[in-house]
Amino acid sequence: MNTVHIALQERSYPIEIGTDLLAQAGTFAGLPRASQALIVTNTTVAPLYAAALQSALQPHYPKVHVVALPDGEAFKTWETLNLIFDALLGHACDRKTVLFALGGGVVGDMTGFAAASFMRGVPFVQVPTTLLAQVDSSVGGKTAINHPLGKNMIGAFYQPQRVICDLSSLQTLPERELSAGLAEVIKYGPIADMALLDWLEANMDALMAREVSALAHAVKRSCEIKAHVVGQDEREAGLRAILNFGHTFGHAIEAGMGYGAWLHGEAVGCGMVMAATLSQRLGLVDAAFVQRLTALIARAKLPVRGPVLDPQDNAGRYLEFMRVDKKAEAGDIKFVLIDGPGKAVVRGAPDALVREVIDACCA
Ligand code: NAD
Ligand code: GLY
Repeated sequence: MNTVHIALQERSYPIEIGTDLLAQAGTFAGLPRASQALIVTNTTVAPLYAAALQSALQPHYPKVHVVALPDGEAFKTWETLNLIFDALLGHACDRKTVLFALGGGVVGDMTGFAAASFMRGVPFVQVPTTLLAQVDSSVGGKTAINHPLGKNMIGAFYQPQRVICDLSSLQTLPERELSAGLAEVIKYGPIADMALLDWLEANMDALMAREVSALAHAVKRSCEIKAHVVGQDEREAGLRAILNFGHTFGHAIEAGMGYGAWLHGEAVGCGMVMAATLSQRLGLVDAAFVQRLTALIARAKLPVRGPVLDPQDNAGRYLEFMRVDKKAEAGDIKFVLIDGPGKAVVRGAPDALVREVIDACCA
């Protein structure tokens, strides 16, 4: 087992990475004590892993309840969030109750937000079961639900007590979800670590075949990079925004296609191609860099051409969605761009150039 530490003073916590973790009682030793725990999961993950986690938690908590939410990005809403509060209040849970998020990023983001707000804050633990959640969403304390007008618009920064990345759970992940997770792994290369990009090129086949040693390295290195960035800028005053490479275009794709049509990771993969192309048009990287990144994204079986959101004015539609991105300031869109391999910069770009890039990158 590997441990990556995230250093945030009194909010510091370990990220444990290994196989067969979620079914072992020892994994959960030393967490805050309480008379009740609530596992929040969804209807897909519950039959796979909820009973095993429940048994592992029983030595630590007298009562361990389970609530299974409907599955999917389309359910990352107020209505679904309320099901968690219904379960907490229905079981007369108190302010010591510990929440366990068992699932992908949707379950993790919603459970974190519920933990941040139930009785003004209860402890929670992330048990991410998708690659995307293990390398990104379970780490760093961003929690949220969607609004029809924008993704992740309502939420809180709230750190978990611990993150348990059980690599064994990735064996049941649908192939499309594995690819989506790889988008967030690839992301860390161009923004922070070109050696990771080299490693990904050499090991993409092993990752696609779910070899545990390859998955372990990808999860560990991703968490190390994310922990380093979040440790310097927990609330995204500046630096943390680089973790959104590909996300400005990606969020437009997700919202424009309707949440759930494209997976978040698929939209980010394609968004990285668009953001790298914009970086190239601004003279920050060369064409060979964009081609190299695009080829790697394609090898992860991710789309590299953006969808047409509006046949009349496709670029205009993208721009409309990008103006409600959280990085936008007074309607000015901020992009995470690559300022030379391994280095990211957050800056604006002329609308005309962005339109050119969208036209060049969409099917
Ligand atoms: P997801 O949570 O929808 O999970 C993907 C699918 O895989 C779901 O159908 C889920 O039920 C299923 N699943 C989960 N684990 C499984 C397993 N082990 N075996 C079989 N099926 C399994 O999607 P995701 O890609 O994990 O997360 C995407 C979400 O994460 C988005 O809402 C995005 O906004 C959010 N996100 C948040 C952050 C953050 O910092 N908080 C970062 C990145 C993404
Ligand atoms: N996924 C972006 C962040 O955590 O900041």
